[in-house]
Amino acid sequence: MRLTLAGLVLSSTLVARVWAGQPTKIYGVNLGSWLVLEPWMLPQEWLDMGGQSCATSCSTCISTESAFAKAYPDTVDTKFAQHWDTWFTQDDVNTLKAAGINTVRVPLGYWIVEALVDRSHESYPRGGLKYLRQGLGWLKDAGIQAILDHHALPGVQTAGQMFTGKQVPICLLFTPYNYHRALVWTAVMTVLSHLDPEFGNVFAIEAINEPIMDATKTPNYGTFQKNFVQVIRAVELTLGIPVPSWDVSVSVTASVSNNFTAALSATSSATIFSPEVQAALSDAVPILREMGIAYGLQTIFEASPFKPDRTSLVANFMDVNWQHNNPSNPADAAIGPQAYDNHLYYSFGGVAAADPTSYMISICNLTRVQADAAVGNSPLWFGEWGLPTQFNATDEFLYKWADAQKLAYSKGAGWIFWNFKTEISKLTNGTALARQWSYLEGLKLGFLTQDPSALHDPNVCVPYMSTTSKGH
Ligand SMILES: *[C@@H]1O[C@H](CO)[C@@H](O)[C@H](O)[C@H]1NC(C)=O
Ligand SMILES: *[C@@H]1O[C@H](CO)[C@@H](O)[C@H](O)[C@H]1NC(C)=O
Ligand SMILES: *[C@@H]1O[C@H](CO)[C@@H](O)[C@H](O)[C@H]1NC(C)=O
Ligand SMILES: *[C@@H]1O[C@H](CO)[C@@H](O)[C@H](O)[C@H]1NC(C)=O
Repeated sequence: MRLTLAGLVLSSTLVARVWAGQPTKIYGVNLGSWLVLEPWMLPQEWLDMGGQSCATSCSTCISTESAFAKAYPDTVDTKFAQHWDTWFTQDDVNTLKAAGINTVRVPLGYWIVEALVDRSHESYPRGGLKYLRQGLGWLKDAGIQAILDHHALPGVQTAGQMFTGKQVPICLLFTPYNYHRALVWTAVMTVLSHLDPEFGNVFAIEAINEPIMDATKTPNYGTFQKNFVQVIRAVELTLGIPVPSWDVSVSVTASVSNNFTAALSATSSATIFSPEVQAALSDAVPILREMGIAYGLQTIFEASPFKPDRTSLVANFMDVNWQHNNPSNPADAAIGPQAYDNHLYYSFGGVAAADPTSYMISICNLTRVQADAAVGNSPLWFGEWGLPTQFNATDEFLYKWADAQKLAYSKGAGWIFWNFKTEISKLTNGTALARQWSYLEGLKLGFLTQDPSALHDPNVCVPYMSTTSKGH
C-alpha cells in the first residue's frame, strides 16, 4: 500500500450543498424508541417488558436499556428482540412511503456495535444489528434515505436522560477512552454504509446527538469532530470512493485489493492520519471481521474487489449554536460533504412564553437557518421537532403550529419529526401523547398533511411577522 500526500489542507471553499443521493428537501421522521428505547414514549409496553416507571430518575429505577439489561441479564436480549421486531415494521415503512416521507433519522446506541461494550461494567441488549439491517433494507426498497444518528454514546453525552440509554448524574463521554470508542463506532458504521447492501440508502452519519450545551463541559470535542470526519474519509479513500476537495489519496496495493479489512488495516498505519484516527481504524478491523462472519458479509469484507458505486457520506453534526461558552465550530472539521442539525422543542421552555401567540411569533421569526449559515453551518436541517406545547393546545392551534414549523424548517434543508409514532394506551391518556408527538397520529388527525411539502395555509405566518400585527 502506498499513500500519496498532496496536501493535508482542509478545504476552505464551501462544499457543494447538494450531493448525490440526498433529497433536495428533507421531509423526515425519526425512528425513535426503536433501537434506543425511551420508556416515556411507550409506557405500557415498557411495564409489560418488566421495566419501571419512577417519579424521580434514580440509578436503581429500571428506566433505561442499561438498567433493564442489568436487572434481567438472562432475558434482556429476547425481550428487546421482540420490541425491535414490532415497534418498527414493514407496514410502517409502507405508511411512511405513502405519506411522502423521504428520509428517516435512526437513533442508535454505541452498543449496536457489541464489541464496544465493556461488559465488566456496562450492560446493554445484544442483537440489534440484525433488526437495523432488516429495517434499513425495507427503507431502501421504499426509496427512503437514512441518517445513522449516534444517539447514545459510550460514557453518556449528557446526564439524566433516557435517550442516552443510561440515566447517570454526570456524563463521561468526553474522555479519550470514550471518544476512541465513538470513533471505532464511526469507522464500523461507515464501512457498513458503503459495503453492506442493506445499508444502501444511508447517506449521512451524525457524530453525537445533543451533547451538553455548555461547551466548557465537553473538552476536546473540537478534536473529536475533526477525527470523526477523518475516520469517515479514511475509510472512503481506502474503498476507492473519492472525497471531494481533499487532495489526499490512499493507494491500495494489489496484495490486499481483494480483502477490504486487510486494506483498512494497512491504512491504519498511514501517518497522514492522526494517531487517534489510525487507532480507530485499526480497532475496527477485528470487529468488522467478526461481523462479517456473523452476518454473512465475510465474502464482501474479505474476499471481493471493493470499489462500491457510492458517493462520500455526509458528515453530520449538531450545529455550533447548539452549544454556548465558546464552542468548537464543526465547520472547521469539514472535509467533503457536511451538514448540520438543530433541534427545536418549545415544550421544554426557554424558547417563547407559554401561549399560542408567543409560539407563533417566535417560530415565524425564526432566524436559526441564517444564523447558522453565517458561521458556515449550512446546509442545516431540523433533525428533531414536534407539536408538543406547554399549554393545552386546541386542534385549531395545532394546524397552525404544524404549518408554521414546517415553513420555518423548510427554509433550511428540511425537517425530521420526532417521532414517527408513540404508544396509544391508558398510560398515555389515549391519544393525548400521540396527538403532539407522533407523526402518524398527526397525519390521522389532519394537523400534518398527506403531502409533507404542503401547508394548510401558506400564509399562516403573515399575521405574526409584522410589528404592527395584533397580539404583540
Ligand atoms: C483478510 O485480511 C485479514 C486482515 O489482514 C486477514 O486476517 C484475513 O485472513 C484475510 N481474509 C482472507 C479471506 O484472506
Ligand atoms: C390541561 O387540561 C387538563 C384537563 O383537561 C388540566 O388538568 C390541566 O391543568 C391543563 N393544563 C394547562 C397547562 O392548562
Ligand atoms: C395523563 O393524564 C394524567 C392526569 O391528567 C397526567 O398526570 C399524565 O401526565 C398524563 N399522561 C400523559 C402521557 O399525557
Ligand atoms: C418578526 O419578523 C418581522 C419581519 O421579519 C419583523 O418585522 C418583526 O419585528 C419580528 N417580530 C418579532 C417579535 O421578532
